[in-house]
Amino acid sequence: MDIPAGPRICLGKDSAYHQMRMVLAILCRFYKFNLVPDHQVKYRMMTILSMAHGLRVTVEKRS
Ligand code: HEM
Repeated sequence: MDIPAGPRICLGKDSAYHQMRMVLAILCRFYKFNLVPDHQVKYRMMTILSMAHGLRVTVEKRS
């Protein structure tokens, strides 16, 4: 996932990706995310990939 954009590579890149994966794993372990029915899931094509209408979900605590 190396997209060269500037003159140097971020030294904390791997650590930052690792932290993001840990946060996601912890969130998915303790919470359940469900798409809101009828919500239109559409990407907005830009330099970074974002959601055209956001991503509406409901969050439920796992038992
Ligand atoms: C989400 C987190 C982070 C983002 C989005 C980010 C983004 C960036 C970007 C865009 C650059 C410039 C790269 C270039 O010139 O092409 C950079 C450089 C750098 N980053 Fe990060 N960074 C993050 C986390 C970190 C962390 C956690 C550390 C250190 C522990 C770190 C240390 C550095 C250093 C030292 C540079 C300068 C590299 C150089 O010029 O030789 N970054 N970062």
